[in-house]
Order: sequence, then C-alpha cells, then structure tokens
Amino acid sequence: MNYRIASIPGDGIGVDVTIEARKVLDTAAAKYGFSLSWQEFDWSCERYAKSGSMMPDDGVEQLSEFDGILLGAVGFPGVPDHVSLWGLLIPLRRAFQQYVNLRPVRLLPGTTSALAGRTADELEMVIVRENSEGEYSAIGGRHNAGRPDEFVLQESVFTRVGVERIIRYAFELARSRSGHVTSATKSNGLIHSMPYWDEIFAEVAARYPDVPAQQCHVDALAARMVQAPDRIDVVVASNLFGDVLSDLAAAVTGGLGMAPSGNINPSGELPSMFEAVHGSAPDIAGQGIANPVAQILAAAMLLEHLGETVAAQAIRTSVDEVLTAGSARTPDLGGTATTTALGTVVAETLR
Ligand code: NAD
Ligand code: IPM
Ligand code: MN
Repeated sequence: MNYRIASIPGDGIGVDVTIEARKVLDTAAAKYGFSLSWQEFDWSCERYAKSGSMMPDDGVEQLSEFDGILLGAVGFPGVPDHVSLWGLLIPLRRAFQQYVNLRPVRLLPGTTSALAGRTADELEMVIVRENSEGEYSAIGGRHNAGRPDEFVLQESVFTRVGVERIIRYAFELARSRSGHVTSATKSNGLIHSMPYWDEIFAEVAARYPDVPAQQCHVDALAARMVQAPDRIDVVVASNLFGDVLSDLAAAVTGGLGMAPSGNINPSGELPSMFEAVHGSAPDIAGQGIANPVAQILAAAMLLEHLGETVAAQAIRTSVDEVLTAGSARTPDLGGTATTTALGTVVAETLR
C-alpha cells in the first residue's frame, strides 16, 4: 500500500519537529510494509513575507488529492497571528470539513505531571473539540472607529448540524472505550450559544443511555482538570473552550511537547490533517531543543487514521520505551537532548 502524504512544516519549531515525525513515519513504513510518498509545501510566514500570502490561491485544491496531511505549526512574529492562521490553518480545517479536533492526552511513562502524585496509568483523557464553527468566526467588525464610543463585535456561530455531529462523535468515542462524556458549557454567562449547545447535548445524550453523560461549566471543568483529572474521560467542547482545555490537559499530562492532535474529516472523503497541539514556539525556535514527541504522536494518529493501526501502536510503544528509559530528554523534560537526538532514538527503538 502506498499513501500520499503532504507535509507542511510551517514556522518555528514546526519545521524541527516535523522532520523527526517524518523520520519515524518512514521507519514505520519500512518495517510494516507500506510506503509513503511525501510532497513538501513551503507554506509559512516566510512565504507570506516574500509573496504576501501564506499559501497559493489553489492551495486547498493542491492538497485535496492527498491521503493525509502532516502540519508543523503556523505563526511567527512579523506576521499578525490572525493573518497567518486565517491564511492557512483555519481555512484548511474548514475546506476539508475537519470538524473534529481530536486531542488525546495521557501521562506518558517516565515523565512528570504538573500534578504531584499521579502515575502514568491514572491519567488518560480525550478532548473532542469542535473545529469548524463556534467562537472562531469572521463575522463582526469594528464600529464607530476612532470615536470614544468605538466598539467591536465578534459573532459566534453554532449550527444544529455542527453541534449535533461533534457531540455524537464524542458519544461514539466514549462508547468505544467504555467511558463517559463531559460537556464543557458556559450557559450561565452566554445566553444564546451555550443554552443551545446544552439543549442539543441533552438530546444526543438521550440516544446513548449506556454512556454516562454530564455537563460542567468550563471554568469549573478547568479546576477539575487540575484537581481530579482521573474523573475526566471524553470532553466535548466548542472550538474556543476546546482550544483552552487542550493546552491545560497537555500541561497536566507532561507538557505541550507531548500532546498530539488530529483535525479529522470523519467521512474520509477529504484529507485529515495531523499536528501537535502546541504552536511554533518562537521563544525556542532555531535552537534545536523542541520536544518532537507531540508531533511524532500526531504522526501515529495519521497512521491510525489510514488504517495502519499496528504501526501506529508500535510508534506509541517506542515513545513510551524511550521516555521510560530516559536516555534522550529534551530540556522541557529536564534533559539536555536535542530535537534530533530524541527523534532518532524513537526511530531506532521502532526499527
Ligand atoms: P506555543 O505552543 O508555540 O508555545 C507555548 C510555550 O510552550 C512556549 O514557551 C514554548 O517554548 C513551549 N513549547 C511549545 N511546544 C514545545 C515543544 N514541542 N517543546 C518544548 N517546548 C514547547 O504557543 P504560543 O507561544 O502561544 O504561540 C506561538 C505561535 O504559534 C503563535 O503565532 C501562535 O498563533 C501559533 N500557534 C500555532 C498553532 C498551530 O499551528 N496549530 C498552535 C498554537 C499556536
Ligand atoms: C490550536 C491553535 C489554533 C487554534 C490557533 C493557532 C488558531 O491554538 O490548534 O490549538 O486555536 O485552533
Ligand atoms: Mn491551541
């Protein structure tokens, strides 16, 4: 079997960690008897600086024939974040109807949680983040510009189809892992969107009587994630809440360097896109010290999505082994290893 994979390393540490993920994927392909044909795209803030756009006009079309997309990170000082992200990442998520942003986190062996006293097998949760609408909207604008009564409006869009399908996805996932669902709400403060979200959550929950369901205000859920994360299994959240909760969940389970993410088109008719939860980390870019584990685990999610489940599991096992051995740790894990050293050890362990 041959898979066509598009690689968009992007900006900052996205470039460093994507090289390592690609190394591990190529090793997995050689070992498990499939092949990957890669095509690399230089879409980035650097491209923006040269040409005035993050990607070409037909960027979506160029990617549409691929079996999967591996994305580094987008965004770098010099280009405003809303310009770079709305010029690349967000349009791709929308064009390919990647309405599920799946963000599994678990405390990996040999690493330390921000929470004292938790061990690896106690902490495993998945954030199911709505990835195509909600608070991420271009509707709104500045009014009365330059006057004392100047203001901006930023609209949210919650469609019945959009809310229902993400909640259904969360229930299916929870059922498949004999787990339970927690919905992140804020219906005490947001009087239109979140009561609507809650209403649809209740409707969908009623169709899954075998799956325990609860809702929790997102502020209280943030506290629970720190104090009792073992009581959390699948979290379903809107675009913005899911974004914030996924960095928190990553921090709780060992740090941003370890959390992968899949932008999934569940129909499989359009490509899905895999990346780390973290960004381009300009503060450590170009130093060769970023932790590549998150991107390597995102690459494993890509294989899982393609149906190469044995190879995907082997990558996860190799990461676990390397972290347990502690032989190569990047500075965020308390070591002095480089990005390349950690990536190479994972690839060698896999081989
Ligand atoms: P960030 O995730 O890039 O960095 C936050 C902190 O975590 C930094 O101190 C960074 O050094 C550290 N960190 C992140 N990943 C790490 C890794 N693999 N190893 C070691 N340390 C790591 O978040 P930010 O600083 O808010 O954003 C920087 C840029 O990235 C912005 O332009 C932002 O818009 C963009 N961004 C892009 C994506 C994406 O493309 N998916 C995601 C998040 C942020
Ligand atoms: C993420 C990122 C993006 C998001 C930003 C960079 C637009 O934070 O993938 O989590 O909020 O979706
Ligand atoms: Mn984020």
